[in-house]
Amino acid sequence: MSYSIKELLDKQPVGDSVEVNGWVKTFRSNRFIALNDGSTIHNLQCVVDFENLDEALLKQISTGAALKITGELVESQGKGQSVEIQATDVFVHGTADPETYPIQPKKHSLEFLREKAHLRVRTNTFAAVMRVRSALAFAVHQYFQQNGFYYMHAPIITGSDAEGAGEMFRVTTLDAKKPPVDEAGAVDYSEDFFGKETNLTVSGQLEAETYAMGLGKVYTFGPTFRAENSNTSRHLAEFWMIEPEMAFYDLDANMDLAEDFIKNIIQYVLENCKDDLEFLENRLLDEEKSKPQAERSEMALLEKLKFVVDNNFKRVSYTEAIEILRNSKPNKKKKFQFPIDEWGADLQSEHERFLVEKHFKCPVILFDYPANIKAFYMRLNEDGKTVRAMDVLFPGIGEIVGGSQREERLDVLQQKIKALDIDEKELWWYLDLRRFGTAVHSGFGLGFERMVQFATGMGNIRDVIPYPRTPQNAEF
Ligand code: 4AD
Ligand code: MG
Repeated sequence: MSYSIKELLDKQPVGDSVEVNGWVKTFRSNRFIALNDGSTIHNLQCVVDFENLDEALLKQISTGAALKITGELVESQGKGQSVEIQATDVFVHGTADPETYPIQPKKHSLEFLREKAHLRVRTNTFAAVMRVRSALAFAVHQYFQQNGFYYMHAPIITGSDAEGAGEMFRVTTLDAKKPPVDEAGAVDYSEDFFGKETNLTVSGQLEAETYAMGLGKVYTFGPTFRAENSNTSRHLAEFWMIEPEMAFYDLDANMDLAEDFIKNIIQYVLENCKDDLEFLENRLLDEEKSKPQAERSEMALLEKLKFVVDNNFKRVSYTEAIEILRNSKPNKKKKFQFPIDEWGADLQSEHERFLVEKHFKCPVILFDYPANIKAFYMRLNEDGKTVRAMDVLFPGIGEIVGGSQREERLDVLQQKIKALDIDEKELWWYLDLRRFGTAVHSGFGLGFERMVQFATGMGNIRDVIPYPRTPQNAEF
């Protein structure tokens, strides 16, 4: 009977004749093949008696080769595994020349593996990360589906700039060398495919709002695109975002949901990805050995995940946070790259991480930010200068969630749009929501890759998505 290695190790049908397919991880002493098929972090040991097999076949077995192995499953004599296959037949699907196959059984740097992104999932680290990523995606859907949310597919090509940051990738079929121009000499997009300027979406939020105002509670989960030229370990030009949007939710309800949701999906991987998380934890502990004591993290991976599940996130207003930062040691000793002088300053990742990692030592939700450092759609507070925004800040990551209560008052929103010089005509449909049956509503966006980073402990966002898209890099 044919099994995946995971099934075989779970069921352990000792005495049965079994068949498995997979790739050779290691081949020792011309006798022991460690086979892996991606179903689990664990390899299956296959013991081959080559006296009864062809010499030519032996030569074809090396790390990376794809094999089908048939034989009896027996209890293992050796250490490290409980069962193994006594192979009676080996079929070679495909060889992997040791001279040229790059993923040899030794330590490879993550940088090296990024250049071999088409093969890196055959390493333990990437296979573990991608299985956790898959589990997290499932947990996201499960959480919302079980809590009365509908999955909404927001468009990927849009005519609006939701965040108003102007960091968009244009979508066009116009001739790049000789585009049509209008009288003023500007590119004439009325002749373009959609008859107007269009871009890849930076966020599905505005469209999600329209659906929340009919279906009640919705969520999007799709790719988003940002042409920001930031070469950091936390930015991608193409990343996946989860954006729930809820009618009749105020900011407090929004924060409650964000916290519950995050805890729930982390709990899911703690329960369902134990082996992979243990592997990743050991990988990190190994990595940390080469770091000076002061830079080592205080908690191991599993402990850190459990800590987030078990403890309340600290909720702090922007104004309180600024006071804490202003009086902090690194600020007084001029250790911040961007010193905090006064209320109104935009928070940089160094400040967010100080609050989370040094001051509160737990996840933090900052709320009520100054209006002029946040997007146009956030609800203005009675003070006239702050908005009902919230960011969830995580250790090692910084901002993992950004969200807000939305401005539901037509006149206030119109004033804001005018003040920011946004073309009201472009947003006619968004304003209609405020004309017809408007109501309090809220939502947020979780950066999926940042969540995968947190759950797996991977330091660079390029290592938690199959094919990272970053400035100057779109190979594969
Ligand atoms: O804070 P952001 O820009 O918020 C929005 O887009 C809102 N429309 C969300 C909403 O209210 N529905 O982005 C949300 C999250 C960030 O907190 C971050 O985790 C992630 O998306 N993110 C990125 N992740 C990877 N690479 C980038 N370039 C990212 N930009 C934002
Ligand atoms: Mg944000």
